[in-house]
Amino acid sequence: MIVLLDAETIRARIKELALEIERDYPADEEIHLVCVLKGGFVFMADLVRSMSARVSMDFIAVSSYGSGTKSSGEVRFQKDLDTSLESRNVIVVEDIVDTGLTLKYLQEILRSRAPKTLRTACLLSKPSRRKVEVPVEYIGFTIEDKFVVGYGLDFAEKYRNLPHIAIFQE
Ligand code: IMP
Ligand code: MG
Repeated sequence: MIVLLDAETIRARIKELALEIERDYPADEEIHLVCVLKGGFVFMADLVRSMSARVSMDFIAVSSYGSGTKSSGEVRFQKDLDTSLESRNVIVVEDIVDTGLTLKYLQEILRSRAPKTLRTACLLSKPSRRKVEVPVEYIGFTIEDKFVVGYGLDFAEKYRNLPHIAIFQE
């Protein structure tokens, strides 16, 4: 597989994103990160370790893909949050925004729970694949239409543990 983004490049960019996020919220306010499992877990882990103690976090699980490389457009809810979002500054933490269908669905559900603010952070974005418009305030890297794995992203549940992001080849 061809390495698209190496570990050091990703590390440096996530540090920048963490600083940007910290700057965007008043210093005395909590920032509540909602990680979208499973793909978002590595990004989340690195992001929060570059942030201050005012961060809290929760996890949600949805699935939009079977085991292939094409989006079904169908989103299934597999694990809900443990705590309320009401009046909190919420940031959804996702691995990648592709068609946008998953995020669109998630944002609607989370917005209905009355957070004070709702933003989204995605490590990767593939804008050429977008089917629905969806706001993503924090983007790590914009990439071309290639199926990628590593750093949380899988193909059939494999390769999530790669420390870099690679273009998938069977
Ligand atoms: P969307 O609903 O099409 O935006 O898809 C979002 C989800 O599809 C992501 O959270 C990923 O789990 C998965 N996905 C999209 N593109 C890729 C990719 O290139 N590699 C691995 N997973 C992907
Ligand atoms: Mg996936």
